[in-house]
Amino acid sequence: MERIRNKELLAKIMSAGQAALLIKDGMNIGASGFTPSGYPKAVPLALANRVLAGEKLKVGLFTGASVGDELDGALARAGAISRRLPYQTNESMRKAINFGSTSFVDMHLSHTPQYTRYGFLGPIDVAIVEAVAITEEGHIVPSTSVGATPAYVEMAKMVIVEINTSQPLELEGMHDIYTSQSPPARSPIPLTAAGDRIGTPYISCSPDKIVAIVVCDIVDNVRPLAPIDDCSRMISLHMMEFLKREVKEGRLPSNLLPLQSGVGNVANAVLAGLLDSDFENMTCYTEVIQDSMLDLLDSGKVTIASGCSVTPSAEGLVRFKEKIGFYRDKITLRPQDVTNHPEIASRLGVISMNTAIEVDIYGNVNSTHIMGQQMMNGIGGSGDFARNAYLTIFATPSIAKNGAISSIVPMVSHHDHTEHDVMVVITERGVADLRGLSPKERAQLIISNCAHPDYREMLLDYYERAQLGMHKHTPHLLGEALSWHQRFIETGTMKK
Ligand code: COA
Repeated sequence: MERIRNKELLAKIMSAGQAALLIKDGMNIGASGFTPSGYPKAVPLALANRVLAGEKLKVGLFTGASVGDELDGALARAGAISRRLPYQTNESMRKAINFGSTSFVDMHLSHTPQYTRYGFLGPIDVAIVEAVAITEEGHIVPSTSVGATPAYVEMAKMVIVEINTSQPLELEGMHDIYTSQSPPARSPIPLTAAGDRIGTPYISCSPDKIVAIVVCDIVDNVRPLAPIDDCSRMISLHMMEFLKREVKEGRLPSNLLPLQSGVGNVANAVLAGLLDSDFENMTCYTEVIQDSMLDLLDSGKVTIASGCSVTPSAEGLVRFKEKIGFYRDKITLRPQDVTNHPEIASRLGVISMNTAIEVDIYGNVNSTHIMGQQMMNGIGGSGDFARNAYLTIFATPSIAKNGAISSIVPMVSHHDHTEHDVMVVITERGVADLRGLSPKERAQLIISNCAHPDYREMLLDYYERAQLGMHKHTPHLLGEALSWHQRFIETGTMKK
């Protein structure tokens, strides 16, 4: 097996079933993976089978972010996850969380590795890591994501490596693994441009810690992207117009500043808008590299993309593998405590573009909870960037559920990003530039520029009646503010 270069480790090759037997009830697993990319597959499937066969076993599952169905889905369906952090997008996992059978800790992604190292999250009993190779020294060369894996490997009592032969060996050299010391020994991260390389191309690991190696060839279970619809196209057009105006006003250079883009269909459409724009020589300092980012690299409009995982669609994955030689010196994959680090977002002056579930008239954002109670995915990296970026933009369609719900509401039903971190709101209706505005100025702009016409009058009516009260700074009618959502729950629409 040429991918295992430390010959003593060859003795540790075993089946997924044998490796899974090392995992016991009550353990915490720190797994590789960030989005459905670079996560272990064979061992989790074997573990889920043990539980389905009747064994009583529940584990804590810590990852970089969301992972594929072989890990989150299989274990959630088996009822094997007691605790999950820091982010997920899997339907079965989401059900387990919202039914209350899995405790979910929704965290800023930059915090996950450092909280692991600080011991805030409990022990990491076993790290399970997908890799393309193990070096002669026993160091691990990860596959399509880095995420929180270096922290899990460092803190784990034992490490299981899945060598995935479906992952190209040419990924070796694309990773840049830098580890910050814990305070009081922490020093500045020496990264001053999106493409800087400051670490090693592997995750350091003592060969003694590796207790099992499993060879598999299961392909990353990536998600398809929906075709770009008119609403996302309009959001993207508004975003481009806004960025052009910023350049014209001298607040951004002509090639912009490093771009951070969220995940999902709106985010993909925004990046696609950059492809049709006049911007050139852009760089990206982001989390996830998806299809539109590959298009931007192919076109030469983006010269450098830094992220912590490559997660294209199935077609994008084929393209990525075929052209990996072209992408190798343009893409750098880093740990999430570097990609999402407040210090770096601030130093590089990142332009942060994320999607909201709902935004209130004063500029507060809910990114995580449907109707204030149902967990969707988690805050992910949005908070890491929102607080620290040069420019923080949240985009959302102005309505959801075929118009039954307004995404612009009097008061968000769950708070993720406060008015202090939200600079610009964009819907398909237009742009509200909130910089330097008081709450009341923000409310007028958001209602007139971003709300859907079907809801504009209702929102204005709420805002005007709220102003009749005694408190003039951020006027609210508290009971009524939340009954907006209640109305949908009771009647299936927010409209009267
Ligand atoms: N009220 C009720 N439901 C709403 C809603 C609202 N205002 N807005 C959206 N939804 C529902 C949609 O109907 C859809 O439901 P469905 O799955 O039953 O069809 C679901 O929420 C997702 O909406 P969609 O429009 O498909 O969202 P998306 O793919 O653009 O993702 C977020 C939007 C906010 C869920 C997603 O971006 C996210 O998880 N963000 C948080 C993490 C993050 O920002 N990560 C990137 C940081 S680097």
